[in-house]
Amino acid sequence: GTERGPERETSGTTSERKVLRVLEGEAIGPPPAWMMRQAGRYLPEYRATRAEAGSFLDLCYSPDFAVEVTLQPIRRFGFDAAILFSDILVIPHALGQDVRFVEGEGPRLDSLDGRDAFARLREAGDPAVMTHLAPVFETVTRLRAELPGETTLLGFCGAPWTVASYMIGGRGTPDLAPARALAEGDTALVDALIDRLVTVQTDYLVRQLEAGADAVQIFESHAGTLPRAVPSAVPGSGGTAEPVGDVAESALPDAPAADALTRWSLRPIARMVAGVRARVPGAKIIVFARGSGLDGHARVVPETGADAVGVDWGVDLRALRQTVPATTVTQGNLHPDTLIAGGAALDAAVDTVLAATAGLPHIFNLGHGITPQTPVAHVERMLARLRGQGQG
Ligand code: CP3
Repeated sequence: GTERGPERETSGTTSERKVLRVLEGEAIGPPPAWMMRQAGRYLPEYRATRAEAGSFLDLCYSPDFAVEVTLQPIRRFGFDAAILFSDILVIPHALGQDVRFVEGEGPRLDSLDGRDAFARLREAGDPAVMTHLAPVFETVTRLRAELPGETTLLGFCGAPWTVASYMIGGRGTPDLAPARALAEGDTALVDALIDRLVTVQTDYLVRQLEAGADAVQIFESHAGTLPRAVPSAVPGSGGTAEPVGDVAESALPDAPAADALTRWSLRPIARMVAGVRARVPGAKIIVFARGSGLDGHARVVPETGADAVGVDWGVDLRALRQTVPATTVTQGNLHPDTLIAGGAALDAAVDTVLAATAGLPHIFNLGHGITPQTPVAHVERMLARLRGQGQG
């Protein structure tokens, strides 16, 4: 038909894309598979391209290199989904924060430690923000043209709390203590920062979908570091503080007693999901909710409106599947350390995921990103087991 969107027709049809079909609610056995961080240092071809590209951010902003490393795991393993190669921290970078990746140490940002630093960030509507990200959209368009028709292309961004934690802490400190401290002191500033991230990243995801992404994933990797409760009882904090920057009174929390997971994770994600769908009707969205616990994971789909919940390795997938409706789409949660271990333990872990999700809509994945020391042969073994060639 002529009414089909051209950006989804570049090669193959969406009906061939199994990850997309599961996101639409279909149970496929064996489930389609991809891995978080599937383009990364465990692959020799990634390390070679990385060395050629220069810095990690150069790699993210060079469509030639970013397309190449995104395709590498697809060529090698035939995963059912490709994930755009970029990083959640290009958003703070686009907002004008200094972001560096220190070899062997991870990301370093100039910490956003108060209202003065917040005031120096770009406004959500500043056109320079999306101009900065233009190479990412070019990468998405080129990927959709170059990928096999049956491969689902995923775009992504970080959830507002996860990105805010890095922006405030300046780095991935073990418990993201600085973000917690700010959240316990100047809650209005945290609200303002989250609000800006909701607006900018809604636009960012819409543009990825318009550029050719089939679906998007929102990474809430640091849900486990949210304060246990919003400290609204602390004098001078929360709803009693002065609004900051562009946050209108109406955008301030209407239920100050809400728990921190609701206020800073689920509700901002829900606003993004609704905002993306308002502009891209029917857009498919996965929310990866690391550290949310069984109850938190069970709340993601109903409370954010996401199509699927990505489950970390800390949660019993069988228990979750027995808690949520059979129509809920899940993704995950094989332990990345089990993939390093390999052997019979790996086979058993694959079987456990398959048993917990048999006949249910599920996307096979790890419970967090693959780590650099993982042997490539173990990924092959995992996929052989999954695809039914690895028995006995
Ligand atoms: O999954 C993919 O293959 C797509 C690419 C991708 C990267 N980062 C590439 C990357 C995605 C989806 C991300 C998301 C991301 N980045 C998250 C959310 C998911 C998660 O892991 O929890 C977070 C928290 C970040 C921030 C970040 N970026 C950290 C903490 C680090 C350092 C950790 C490390 O492995 O060094 C990065 C760097 C990074 N992002 C690398 C890759 C491949 C390694 C950098 C390198 O090649 O030197």
